[in-house]
Amino acid sequence: MSFQKDFLWGGALAANQCEGAYLEDGKGLSIQDVMPKGVAGPVSEQPVPENLKLIGIDFYHRYEEDIRLMAEMGFKVFRMSIAWSRIFPKGDEEQPNEKGLEFYDRVFDTCRLYGIEPMVTLSHYETPLYLAKTYDGWRSRQMITFFDRYCRTVFERYQDKVKYWMTFNEINALWHFPLMGAGIWTPKEQLTEQDKYQAAHHEFVASALAVKRLHDMIPDAKMGCMVLGALSYPMTPKPDDMIAMMEADRKVMFFSDVQTRGYYPSYIKKYWEKNGICIQMESGDEELLKNTVDYVSFSYYMSKCTAADCSLYSKGAGNLTSGVKNPYLPESEWGWQIDPQGLRYTLNYFYDRYQKPLFIAENGLGANDQLVDDGQGGYTVRDDYRIEYLRNHLKEVEKALDDGVDVMGYAAWGCIDVVSASTAQMKKRYGFVYVDRNEDGSGSLTRYKKKSFYWYRDVISSNGASL
Ligand code: BG6
Repeated sequence: MSFQKDFLWGGALAANQCEGAYLEDGKGLSIQDVMPKGVAGPVSEQPVPENLKLIGIDFYHRYEEDIRLMAEMGFKVFRMSIAWSRIFPKGDEEQPNEKGLEFYDRVFDTCRLYGIEPMVTLSHYETPLYLAKTYDGWRSRQMITFFDRYCRTVFERYQDKVKYWMTFNEINALWHFPLMGAGIWTPKEQLTEQDKYQAAHHEFVASALAVKRLHDMIPDAKMGCMVLGALSYPMTPKPDDMIAMMEADRKVMFFSDVQTRGYYPSYIKKYWEKNGICIQMESGDEELLKNTVDYVSFSYYMSKCTAADCSLYSKGAGNLTSGVKNPYLPESEWGWQIDPQGLRYTLNYFYDRYQKPLFIAENGLGANDQLVDDGQGGYTVRDDYRIEYLRNHLKEVEKALDDGVDVMGYAAWGCIDVVSASTAQMKKRYGFVYVDRNEDGSGSLTRYKKKSFYWYRDVISSNGASL
């Protein structure tokens, strides 16, 4: 089976990595504005010029050009996020910032002009800084109220412009990166498991409430969850490794289990009981959780191996999850292991578990691209390595379709180069379009089409036949 006619081909960006304009038109600070080194380094007191995200790729002023480039590739969908602190600068205000709302009006109108469907993540690693510092982010139950106000505001405003939504980007990243994932200001080392499960509960309730609001306000709109999809292989056929794998996968799946099935699975309730974890719930929470998502989306960059022997564990540079290296797989310049078949496996795994439409919200290769003369008076990047990576992954998507999996679409991550989330580097590039910005912040911000730009355009126009 090949890609269905309405397959949503496209790409993805996140506000904090592309927009820049970090204080423009009334925007408040977000946690990213004080994370100059991504998850790899400490936060800064104030925004510092070394933080490349403050300018990003200046999408805030160049969105028309960027969306036009997406249209030229034939994008059907553009997954993006709204910067919460543009709409509610501190996060707990009663009234939104009109200028912020107007910016996304312009972005969505431009998408519509080119027939591109916007798919919007409500919270992509960019909690308003004030909420992080004042309320300790999602550790506080009050966050549900603030998030609900934000959701109602944007649903109301964009009801005729946006059909596809997602609540929290990689919601399970809370486990590894509580600040980036859940706006928790308390240092990670000081958090207990109880704290993290409690924060997750608040996010689940907020997410379920967002589903309910969306369905009430815009009946034909769809809400998805979004998890970091890094499933495991057992390191060996040893039964101990198999059990370790089952437990590791539950850490990934717990989040989408709740958001997709609408209740806490028995394995987690048992875990809480055995470990003295007691989650504070209010009456009505469990009923609310029954508002499950319409589709399941995930990012996929790598698989990992799990072993019962903990001494085997290592972590790739800036890798968002930990695991044991798979001796059969090559890796990227940043040590992320490349496993196209793992994408087919992940698609089947999710579909077997949920039987809901799946959307691949992110996938791609971060590489240190070199801009070269294109021989016609311009510049380009000959990124055959990226083409190979994407082609191999998309062929596995095609096989998953043939397995019977319902895949709605595919968004290539960082379709235009952006600042990296984990390492805050500019040189870790994923795009079909090169952005002239260097590690020291210099550069004209001019956009150049890479070789992969034309390759992806052909893939889309042939609906996958040219793969
Ligand atoms: C995902 C995030 O984890 O991976 C993105 O949702 C991020 O925001 C992407 O950019 C790639 O990671 P990185 O660290 O290479 O930018």
